[in-house]
Amino acid sequence: MAKAPAIQFKHIPHPAPVPGATREQAIADPGFGTVFTDHMVSIDYDEGEGWHSARLCAREPIMLDPAASVLHYAQEIFEGLKAYKLADDSMALFRPEQNAQRFNKSARRLAMPELPEEAFIEAVETVVKADRSWFPKVEGGSLYIRPFMFANEHFLGVRPAKKYKFLVILSPAGNYFKSGAPAVSVWVSDYTRAAPGGTGEAKCGGNYAASLVPTGEAFAKGHDQVVFLDAVERKWIEELGGMNLFFVFEDGTMITPPLSGTILPGITRDSLLTLAREEGLTVREERYSLDQWREDAGSGRLVETMACGTAAVVTPVGKVAGNDGEFTIGSGGPGQLTTKLREKLVGIQRGTVEDRHGWVRRIS
Ligand code: PLP
Ligand code: COI
Repeated sequence: MAKAPAIQFKHIPHPAPVPGATREQAIADPGFGTVFTDHMVSIDYDEGEGWHSARLCAREPIMLDPAASVLHYAQEIFEGLKAYKLADDSMALFRPEQNAQRFNKSARRLAMPELPEEAFIEAVETVVKADRSWFPKVEGGSLYIRPFMFANEHFLGVRPAKKYKFLVILSPAGNYFKSGAPAVSVWVSDYTRAAPGGTGEAKCGGNYAASLVPTGEAFAKGHDQVVFLDAVERKWIEELGGMNLFFVFEDGTMITPPLSGTILPGITRDSLLTLAREEGLTVREERYSLDQWREDAGSGRLVETMACGTAAVVTPVGKVAGNDGEFTIGSGGPGQLTTKLREKLVGIQRGTVEDRHGWVRRIS
């Protein structure tokens, strides 16, 4: 099959990049999601014409007609990945082809056009290269990459739009959790996030909009994240608002909820499944209930619970609370396996641990 011609990115010079001293101050302690770099990549799509007008340009506000369909029917998807610094000061992405594939899977579910995988990766690499000076100097820092696409046809009828915009922006990032606590505390919500046949496995903005009331409740009660149970029986653990979960038992078994269509197929989740098997653990993708979680934490059979995702990396869950009371996992702090898997994953991402699976893609 003939290879599709590569998309050419036009480089439009930034008229007024942020001055060096201001940038240095912004990236000194960026936290998560508040600081943004100078550039973005933009590609437009029109039915009949396909993808066009690919460009690297200044990050700037976008003009939207008030009738743009994303504003009414939320036809929007996004991805989240990071650029890491390797020991020799070069930069690398972690399994970006997985993000490109998941993006297209989300696109299909939201009736949006797919973007060729090579174009997705090239868009990401183009903006990362342009803004490499924004790499944060903090311990554990990275450039968080947010590719996203939305419908921008002016039309109020309910049908898939005929015009879309794809953008990639960057946000220098430190720790996702502000609390700085050694383990996070989670709140089990009575709200559900996704039902069978819905959009739970797609990374669409609407899923996150629906998670904001429960997340707000969790924050108001002093917790860091919300836990969602399944929408049918309201008993099986699904995932957190923005992370997948793993349960570790004293007999060397590890369980994570299966990809049944209602949870996000996390790339960190997939990587940890491989790394845990390499550590000799018996890993199962299997349903696990809230009642069992409480009972196993009480009996000591369950020794650790970890939350994982691009933004949060691998974070121990120390406390679980809900309307039926609360319980502590292990000692309430980071467990041995959580620490070991986190170090291994971060080591691979930063080039200090051998990359045996070809997960790291250097940006030249
Ligand atoms: N689950 C949800 C709902 C998420 O938003 C994320 C973050 O992207 C994850 C899980 C973890 O996915 P990944 O490891 O690909 O970042
Ligand atoms: C990520 O980990 O990349 C996420 O998208 C989680 C959250 C910031 C939405």
